[in-house]
Amino acid sequence: MPYNPSAYPIIDHDYDVVVVGAGGAGLRATFGMVQNGLKTACITKVFPTRSHTVAAQGGVGAALGNMAEDNWMWHMYDTVKGSDWLGDQDAIEYMCREAIPAVHELEHYGVPFSRTPDGKIYQRPFGGHMRNFGEAPVQRACAAADRTGHAILHTLYQQSLKYKAEFFVEYFAIDLIMDETGCRGVIAIDMATGQIHRFRGHQTVLATGGYGRAYFSCTSAHTCTGDGSGMVARAGLPLQDMEFVQFHPTGVYGAGVLITEGARGEGGYLTNSAGERFMERYAPTAKDLASRDVVSRSMTMEIREGRGVGPEGDHIMLHLEHLGADVLWERLPGITETAKIFAGVDATKEPIPVLPTVHYNMGGVPTNYMGEVIKPLPGRPDNVLPGLMAVGEAACVSVHGANRLGTNSLLDLVVFGRAAALRCKDTIKPGTTHKPLPKNSAEMALSRLDKLRYSKGPLTTAQIRKSMQRTMQNDAAVFRTAKTLKEGLDKMGEVAGTLKDISVTDRSLIFNTDLIEALELENLVPCALATIAGAEARHESRGAQAHEDYPNRDDVNWMKHTLAWVDDKYAVKLDYRPVHTYTLTDEVQYIAPKARVY
Ligand code: FUM
Repeated sequence: MPYNPSAYPIIDHDYDVVVVGAGGAGLRATFGMVQNGLKTACITKVFPTRSHTVAAQGGVGAALGNMAEDNWMWHMYDTVKGSDWLGDQDAIEYMCREAIPAVHELEHYGVPFSRTPDGKIYQRPFGGHMRNFGEAPVQRACAAADRTGHAILHTLYQQSLKYKAEFFVEYFAIDLIMDETGCRGVIAIDMATGQIHRFRGHQTVLATGGYGRAYFSCTSAHTCTGDGSGMVARAGLPLQDMEFVQFHPTGVYGAGVLITEGARGEGGYLTNSAGERFMERYAPTAKDLASRDVVSRSMTMEIREGRGVGPEGDHIMLHLEHLGADVLWERLPGITETAKIFAGVDATKEPIPVLPTVHYNMGGVPTNYMGEVIKPLPGRPDNVLPGLMAVGEAACVSVHGANRLGTNSLLDLVVFGRAAALRCKDTIKPGTTHKPLPKNSAEMALSRLDKLRYSKGPLTTAQIRKSMQRTMQNDAAVFRTAKTLKEGLDKMGEVAGTLKDISVTDRSLIFNTDLIEALELENLVPCALATIAGAEARHESRGAQAHEDYPNRDDVNWMKHTLAWVDDKYAVKLDYRPVHTYTLTDEVQYIAPKARVY
């Protein structure tokens, strides 16, 4: 039945820029825009300081050189190598170079970083961060104890308030407003009242985070439902490199909650059931500080080969007890508490049971290094779509390629949130009049909302979501095979097919979480489909894609970004675009692929 538009009166807003999401990237973009004189709305489904950035622990990467010599070019080299040569080198150069001023800016904005005895920002070692082009670990992670994301998020929110950014809190963005020129804004629902709002902007910036909740066990908050990617897919635009899903080596066994890699940075180490420090066998140089894909795979191998810990032999132990209570309380207070609450373990006395857990999506909405969304056209793989930007985990710039280094996520948020604001400053004149919107600008969003609101199929959102999460967890896991991926792709197709059988029982519009969760599920499903379809098609192993039937990286055939279009029938179409094998300036040279030696 067609929906009745008079059931959903619309409140209109005009802004220079509309930012969707108020995590680190959304806040950095928002206050950067306002600082540059642009009238900016920030729409967020949770209160800004509850965004998932609050959970980031170990640090933000920048070659400040506070602990020993460091260089942004070494950081760039590590990031290219960590990405397993799928990262775009122009963007990686931009991020690693800009890391230094971006972190100094954070310091001046008031982030309470931990300090060295002489008052500089404290930096700890982190996986994959090395000095002198891979020689030995370097201390590059700028840390506020093990609550760095919390510290950054609160500071950025305070700065946003100082610059009088306008927030629309607990508003859920339903769909983008598109016309033949590009993106014109977004339709959102105020969750508290059910009122519909139409936001018009010269740029709409998606800062909606990742889609960890497509999996059963993840370190991501329940809010990480790929809302930006869902909207982009429905707008007929591609998602990029979605098959690359990062497993963090140390989620608390059973609960999935994050134990920061900073714990190993401070000297923690992993053991198997024989008490052996097995990482020495897999990565003789970096050991427990090898990059995450390597450590996660090594842990999984130990378990598969019968050396896992516990009655089921299904986890690994993380030792911190030798560090002593003083170090733990000073440097790692958050995870010491987490270990107590979620594993019942006193980390000052006993090891913590851990297991690799889904942590980060390298893929997302394709953008250039200024945050502009790419809509590839024949012969123009880097074509920019007017009016739409994406930043943070929602985006695929691509600085992380096939595998992100720890600390490069907080960095990505602040560097590219800032870059988007700089780009808007250069391209938008504050107060420019908007063109009229197309007549049907709210139709897609409202007909979808109405259809879900009155749906009465046999399945609940939770049942469909669980089928998706189990499928992704089992069939698009740390190790993948042609068989599991094919089966998983078929199963995900069936799961998507059941969306038409969904039922929402609450018909009201006042804080209808039943309806919002259904909308979130409609965002997660295209993300899951693009992930498993891209993984099934990619016949190689690279970064987070460990394909047992194709164990080697294949630079001749597969050094390219996957593009996935998910249509309204949930069919996935794949294509590819080239990796940027050039740098931004002549100061550094292209880093050619090499075998990976740890
Ligand atoms: O281990 C951690 O603290 C996570 C950091 C990151 O994902 O960058």
